[in-house]
Amino acid sequence: MNEPARRAAEMSAAFSARYGDTPQLWTRAPGRVDLMGSHTDYNHGFILSMTIDRDTWVAARPRQDRTVSVLSLDLGAETNFSLDAIAPDPEQHWANYVRGMASVLCDAGYPLRGFDALIHTTVPVSAGLSSSAALEMAVGRMFEAVGGFTIDAVELAVLGQRAENHFVGVACGILDQYTSAVGKAGCALLLDARTITSSDAPIADGITVVICDTCTKRELAGSEYGVRRAQCEQGAAYFARRYPDVTHLRDVSFERFEAHAAELPDAVARRCRYILEENARVPALAAALTAGDHIAIHQLTAASFAGARDLYEITIPEMEIMLKTMLAAPGCIAARQAGAGFGGCMAAFVIKEKIEPFVDFVANTYTSGAGIEPRIYPVKSSPGASRFTPPAA
Ligand code: GLA
Repeated sequence: MNEPARRAAEMSAAFSARYGDTPQLWTRAPGRVDLMGSHTDYNHGFILSMTIDRDTWVAARPRQDRTVSVLSLDLGAETNFSLDAIAPDPEQHWANYVRGMASVLCDAGYPLRGFDALIHTTVPVSAGLSSSAALEMAVGRMFEAVGGFTIDAVELAVLGQRAENHFVGVACGILDQYTSAVGKAGCALLLDARTITSSDAPIADGITVVICDTCTKRELAGSEYGVRRAQCEQGAAYFARRYPDVTHLRDVSFERFEAHAAELPDAVARRCRYILEENARVPALAAALTAGDHIAIHQLTAASFAGARDLYEITIPEMEIMLKTMLAAPGCIAARQAGAGFGGCMAAFVIKEKIEPFVDFVANTYTSGAGIEPRIYPVKSSPGASRFTPPAA
C-alpha cells in the first residue's frame, strides 16, 4: 500500500472506531515555507512563499444537529462544541484553530452544519511550517463541504487570519493562511500582502527546496514577534506623520528612509531598514529562482540572513550553526532563515541530484556542532486547501 493510501486507511479505521461509521468527506491543506520576505507581510510587503508536500487531512461525516466533534489522531485528544455557542477551549490550544474557523465563518454568515471529524497531519508542529494555518484551512474547507456552500480561497485565508488574530489571539499576518489556501503544485507564489493577490513564481528545474529544522524550541517567537511588529508600526507612524501617502513600511522609499533614519530610535531604524531591504529582495529572488541564477540566489539569501541577524535580530546561535552547515553541504546553492525566526526551520536551495549527500552532511555536521539532531525535509509544492477523494487501499 502506498503512503497516502495507508494514511487514508489508518484514518478511516480510527474514524470508525470513534464514530461507528466511515467518513464521507475529506479535505486537506498544506503547510508552507517562505523563501524570502521574513516579517514583510504585516508591513504590507511582498513574500515569496511555497506550499510543501506535507499536509493536514480532515475526514468527516455530517451530523443532523449543530454539534462539531473533532478528534486529533496525532494528539489522541478531542474537542466538542455547539455551533450555537462557540467559545475558546482554555485547555486545548489546537482546538481553538477549529473553533476559531467555525466562529469567523458563522460571523461572516456562512450556513454551517455540524459534523464528526478526525484530523491527521504530516506538517511538523511548532517548527515554523504553519501547521496551524494548514489546520485552519483544512477545517474551513470541511465546513464548506458539509455546509454545501462555496468560499473563495482568498476569502478563506482572510477568515483564517481573522480567526488566528481574534479568536486564538496570535497577531500573525496573511502569509501562512494565504499560502495554504491559494498555493499550487509546481511553483512558489509571489504574494503582495497589501492587495492579498499573488502571481506564480516557478523555480528552475534542478533546484530543490530542503527544509532543515534546527529542532530548537521557539520560545521567543511569540513575544518577540509582537515587539518587532510594534517597532515596524512605530517606524511607519513616524513616516506617516511626514508623508501623507504612508500607512505601512511598504510605502517608505529608501530615499525617504535615508533622509530620516538618524531621527528614529536605533532599534526602530534597524527594523525598518531590514524590512525595506527584505521587501526589495523578494521580487529579485523570484526572478533569480525562475532563471536558475545560482549566484543571485546565493547573494540574496545571504543578505537576507545577515539582515535577520544584524538588523531584525530574529536569529539564535543554532540558526547560525545550521546556516554554516547547510552552506558547506554538497549541492547547496544558498540558504536562509524561514518562518518567524528564533529557531525552528530554515530553508536551503539544493541541486536536485545532490539531495542525499546534502541531507547526510547536514544531519551529521549539525548534530556534532549544535548537539541537537536536526530534522531534514526535501519538499516540493503541493495544491492549496481543497476537498479530495482519498486514494483507495
Ligand atoms: C509567522 C506569521 C506570518 C509572518 C511570518 C514571518 O509565520 O504567522 O504572518 O509574519 O511569521 O514572515
